[in-house]
Amino acid sequence: MRDLLNKNYLEKQDIITLLSANEEDTKALFSKASEIKEKHVGNKVYFRGLIEFSNICGKNCYYCGIRAGNNNVNRYNLTDDEILDCARFAYENHYASVVLQSGELANEVFSKRIENLLTEIKHLSNNRLGITLSLGEQSEEVYQRWFNAGCHRYLLRIESANKELFQKIHPNNEHHSFETRLNCLKMLKKIGYQVGTGVMIGLPFQTLEDLADDLLFLREFDVDMVGMGPYIEHPDTPLYEYRDLLLPRPERLQLGLKMIAILRIMMKDINIAAATALQAIDPMGREKGIKVGANIIMPNVTPGEYRNSYKLYSDKPCTDENPDDCTQCLEARISMTGNTIGFDEWGDSKHFKEKKRPE
Ligand code: 5AD
Ligand code: SF4
Ligand code: FES
Repeated sequence: MRDLLNKNYLEKQDIITLLSANEEDTKALFSKASEIKEKHVGNKVYFRGLIEFSNICGKNCYYCGIRAGNNNVNRYNLTDDEILDCARFAYENHYASVVLQSGELANEVFSKRIENLLTEIKHLSNNRLGITLSLGEQSEEVYQRWFNAGCHRYLLRIESANKELFQKIHPNNEHHSFETRLNCLKMLKKIGYQVGTGVMIGLPFQTLEDLADDLLFLREFDVDMVGMGPYIEHPDTPLYEYRDLLLPRPERLQLGLKMIAILRIMMKDINIAAATALQAIDPMGREKGIKVGANIIMPNVTPGEYRNSYKLYSDKPCTDENPDDCTQCLEARISMTGNTIGFDEWGDSKHFKEKKRPE
């Protein structure tokens, strides 16, 4: 296995071998990934303050706790002022970027609201805060308007690059189409966004071959940013029925870490987030992600009182904390990993910048 780690271009079979690595080989994989991270993107972690401003969602993904069909959720929607306060908190705490995330809605009132918020956030931060949106599938026109209003990064996970698996974890209707998801990713790229996507790891029915295909998809699509983390079952969702098919949680975490490490070896200069779901399994999950190749963390800056209602999965961390708690906690945690925090720096994907450079 060790010679695979020195290969320039990993093939599908190589990836499968790495994903099945035993404990000792996994150590070698992790240290290689860590070395590559240090060499290509450095040991700096960038913050993206995550504002989960509403859990109202029009979709019904089978895995997600805030799906429209779940009646056990208190639905909330922050006011514009509350959202702007979150952005101000991030700015004043030197986060340099925020991510606006919510359940998926697609209508003109919503589009316009986001457009205004983008303008306001730019304004309150003297144009300094970087803004990422994570608002699901929208029309090309809407993506373009949001881009024009100052958003320069967009996150939209493909969830699984295998169409059959994608269909198994989503309702079979036009609101949950693999083609639409892929098409949205292409539109975002065309408009000029830094595009982030990702998958869930350890889903029921998912094989190592699927995961290898996911990594190949990320390379083929030439993404700038990736956020991927373990799937965590939620009792109020249809997929819960298949919980007996899941790997034990510690193994799911380990698989998630292997995915991050292999991706870092395959795509040396992209931004990779240490997903919050890693921490849902292990209190040190995100720190472990950083050690094996991740360089982005998305501290939650949503006011504490709403956090309990944005539970995509069980055991979501920091739901009893407030933004200040998370800031202090993270500073300590990141210094433990031997990384520093890129305060006041956008920390854009190097990969994106290299692509844009004229020949
Ligand atoms: N476990 C892990 N991740 C989940 N997401 C949604 N539900 C779950 C779950 N049960 C992820 C999806 C989505 C992102 C916002 O959260 O990948 O794209
Ligand atoms: Fe809605 Fe996103 Fe959850 Fe799907 S994953 S139900 S689109 S919030
Ligand atoms: Fe939220 Fe540690 S990151 S309390």
